[in-house]
Amino acid sequence: MINLGVLGSGKGSNLGAIFDAIDARKLDTRVVCVLSDNSGAFILDRARQRGVPAFHIDCAPFKTKLDGDAQARAIAILREHGADAIALAGFMRMVKPGLLQAFPHRVVNIHPALLPAFPGLEAWSQAVAYGAKVSGCTVHFVDAGMDTGPIILQKPVPVFDTDTPQVLHARIQEQEHSAYPEALQLLSQGRLKIEGRVVKIS
Ligand code: GRF
Repeated sequence: MINLGVLGSGKGSNLGAIFDAIDARKLDTRVVCVLSDNSGAFILDRARQRGVPAFHIDCAPFKTKLDGDAQARAIAILREHGADAIALAGFMRMVKPGLLQAFPHRVVNIHPALLPAFPGLEAWSQAVAYGAKVSGCTVHFVDAGMDTGPIILQKPVPVFDTDTPQVLHARIQEQEHSAYPEALQLLSQGRLKIEGRVVKIS
């Protein structure tokens, strides 16, 4: 069982999938708090609708990272709520070593491509523009790099030449919604061991 803190910036469909998996008894996890850098993000409403404490973290003056006072505040809230693992779910900022050191090997992310292909922003648009025939999603541990940490699991989806970026993203998100709960269940059961950059699943 893990006590999960979730960080997101957007609509929070992955958080919704985590709640659904918990309700379906496929995921032994408690979501203890949800944090967002965006006060208007629907992920905060989704948490509140379920009675999960939800917080806006003002990340100024930083534009693309969670650092400084904002990072300290996030760590304090996560600790106060008893979080022992962190899931990034559409969190649009780089997390810095302070958070990673506070939760060593316990911060995970979902990325909408088969890493190491298409790291960074709008990976679904990158895949369409590149002409990839297969893309997908990746759940991985977070390290100091951009989408570079050890891979926990991946799910592929086809890319069709008629796909718009939005259509491909929707197809990828369907897979995300099973991949993230599955990966978190492995973490929750203590079945993931990181050896170098390889994650061994027992
Ligand atoms: C997902 O596609 C995720 O892979 C990416 O951001 C998106 C978040 O979607 N990191 P949501 O907010 O969970 O709906």
